[in-house]
Amino acid sequence: MFISPSLPRPKTTTKPGQQRSRLPLIEHPFGYVYRSIWHNHFWEMLSIIWGDRQTSKPHCHQISFNLTRVQSGRILERKYRISGGQLVVASEQVLTAGQWTWTLPFQVHELIGLSDRSQTLHFYFPSRKSTVHHP
Ligand SMILES: [Fe+2]
Repeated sequence: MFISPSLPRPKTTTKPGQQRSRLPLIEHPFGYVYRSIWHNHFWEMLSIIWGDRQTSKPHCHQISFNLTRVQSGRILERKYRISGGQLVVASEQVLTAGQWTWTLPFQVHELIGLSDRSQTLHFYFPSRKSTVHHP
């Protein structure tokens, strides 16, 4: 089939100068969206885009050490400890673009978007087990 080069190009939602990633954005049941960038047995990298007040809820990465960098916007991180069988907030910090945080193996933490379209980059060593369902 011959297509004339003078036919108009199909419209896309990509703006000039904006690159479209081939990696899919996946919507998490908690509302934020994420993109798996790299994954093997030894390490994993993903990015997350948070809406205002969207939360990961408290979670543990099991044996994985985690590094997180805020790429844009603002994120609240809460770290928890267990006291009397209950999760208790041990610390809170607001992170802005360019700041890093980390989570130790078996440490429970929670991330909350404080502005719409805040973006974070996450590294896990080793890669998370398949039983961990959210970052
Ligand atoms: Fe996490």
